Amino acid sequence: MLWRDENGKVNCISDKCCHRGASLSCGKIVAGKVECPFHGFQFGGDGKVKLIPANGKNASIPETQQVKAYETYEKYGLIWMWWGDADKKTEKPFFFDELADMSYSTFIDSWNSHYSRCIENQLDVIHLPFVHKTTIGAGNKTLVNGPVVVLKDELMTFYVDNMLDDGKTTPLKPDEIPDFENLFHLQFHYPNIWQNFISDKMRIFAAFVPVDEENTLIYLRNYQKFIRIPILKGIVNYLMKLSNIVILRQDKRVVVGQIPKKTEVKMDERLIMSDKPIIEYRKHRQELIDK
Ligand code: FES
Ligand SMILES: [Fe+2]
Repeated sequence: MLWRDENGKVNCISDKCCHRGASLSCGKIVAGKVECPFHGFQFGGDGKVKLIPANGKNASIPETQQVKAYETYEKYGLIWMWWGDADKKTEKPFFFDELADMSYSTFIDSWNSHYSRCIENQLDVIHLPFVHKTTIGAGNKTLVNGPVVVLKDELMTFYVDNMLDDGKTTPLKPDEIPDFENLFHLQFHYPNIWQNFISDKMRIFAAFVPVDEENTLIYLRNYQKFIRIPILKGIVNYLMKLSNIVILRQDKRVVVGQIPKKTEVKMDERLIMSDKPIIEYRKHRQELIDK
């Protein structure tokens, strides 16, 4: 569970009380500490019990009375937590820094899908004319050249070139596309953030937050810096948010039905050339897991 202490610092500790397993997030915050709803044990941000009411304020508290605490980092209106091994921790989480001077509005949606399916949906360049026929996929550009995928460390950039199918054209393979850098592109950074380059002054951003093996929260933001007048900026950000909601709900309808919920490098799916960003995502995700 997450909360802010009296200094505004974000703390994150396991949600399971070490006493008898109650959910700490059902408790309350008392003077910057979390009080378990069952027997009132109080926890600090370090995960240690600071008070056992039944033993009295005077009693010493054994070291075993503690839950796991996770390090947090807060910036850009987001909170990260370090879930992995302590010796593998990176200094600070990655963010697309060029977004820092843009304004944004956020839409949060809960999907009954594993995070891998949610991420892969945003790497999918062939679903647009079907899922988004009435919005961003209008125009029936079903034929897909490439796409070209460039992976540099943990940053994946993929270049999109969709076109109308005249019945005579064979799509180009990724290595047959000249000047692919000039094409429309999107980026994904492991483990879980993505952006769509609409223009230098406008982006769509998503953070995929795993809840459990079958549920994910998607934080979708539109960023822009072409309008800076306060009221107008608010209106534009709000309108962009509405359009994002419509588009994301078109995706959700299909993705929550995908089986199995979680994807793997080797699984019973027959992928095609234009699934390249998804193939590369699965491969590198597995490499990172195995590291
Ligand atoms: S279960 Fe939390 S104090 Fe008893
Ligand atoms: Fe989509």
